[in-house]
Amino acid sequence: MIKIKNIEKTYIKASVLTPVLCGITLSIQRGEYVAIMGTSGTGKSTLMNIIGCLDKPTSGQLELDGIDVYKLDDDTPSSLRNNKIGFVFQQFFLLERTTALDNVLLPFIYADKYPADAIQRAKKTLANVGLEDRTEYLANELSGGQQQRVAIARALINDPDVILADEPTGNLDSTSTAEILEIFNRLNKEGRTIVVVTHDRAVAEHAQRILELKDGLITENGTNPNTENSDIH
Ligand SMILES: Nc1ncnc2c1ncn2[C@@H]1O[C@H](COP(=O)(O)OP(=O)(O)O)[C@@H](O)[C@H]1O
Ligand SMILES: [Mg+2]
Repeated sequence: MIKIKNIEKTYIKASVLTPVLCGITLSIQRGEYVAIMGTSGTGKSTLMNIIGCLDKPTSGQLELDGIDVYKLDDDTPSSLRNNKIGFVFQQFFLLERTTALDNVLLPFIYADKYPADAIQRAKKTLANVGLEDRTEYLANELSGGQQQRVAIARALINDPDVILADEPTGNLDSTSTAEILEIFNRLNKEGRTIVVVTHDRAVAEHAQRILELKDGLITENGTNPNTENSDIH
């Protein structure tokens, strides 16, 4: 489902070079639930944004569902992203004075593609995260956990194969965290590929596979997941 090969990323800002990813090679199969751990500043969000086609690496290859992303013309990665990937972020990124329902409809509005059954679909995804009774609440009338569930419903509106979640429970208490993790578990059982970035081992342990990002490289159980001895592929 996701294949990255030799991904390097160096940020250049005010002529200061910050090498963040130093040659990452990794495969994630369809239907896997993977956690990526690492301390703050190790490049977890950078890697996630590259996997989700929100950012480009300095060098390397990315294959999504058999498609070599950097060989596509400029517009295609964003349509690939809109149709295959749902994003969930630590900060929710909802429009505050907008209803839960309208927040979930946003991807259709941005994509300028508003299907006839858009509202039914949005209501269904809200029900899917247990918010059928909150569709008309404004985002700022919801608790943090409820807001993150709206964000998950928004991520699901295009029925993506992959959910990429960057510190999805970073701003939540333990009860809301448990609810979100329960939803990810269910989405994974339905066959979706889940990739969660977290610095919290208890959150990571819900995944089937835990990867660690350190010094610009990925390890799995202390070893490089792509050596010949790996039994992952
Ligand atoms: N847009 C950017 N421009 C310059 N440096 C950046 C940018 N984004 C991130 N960085 C730097 O890259 C490193 C990794 O950041 P990030 O991927 O956000 O780490 P994490 O998500 O693991 O906390 C940090 O040192 C950060 O300052
Ligand atoms: Mg981050």
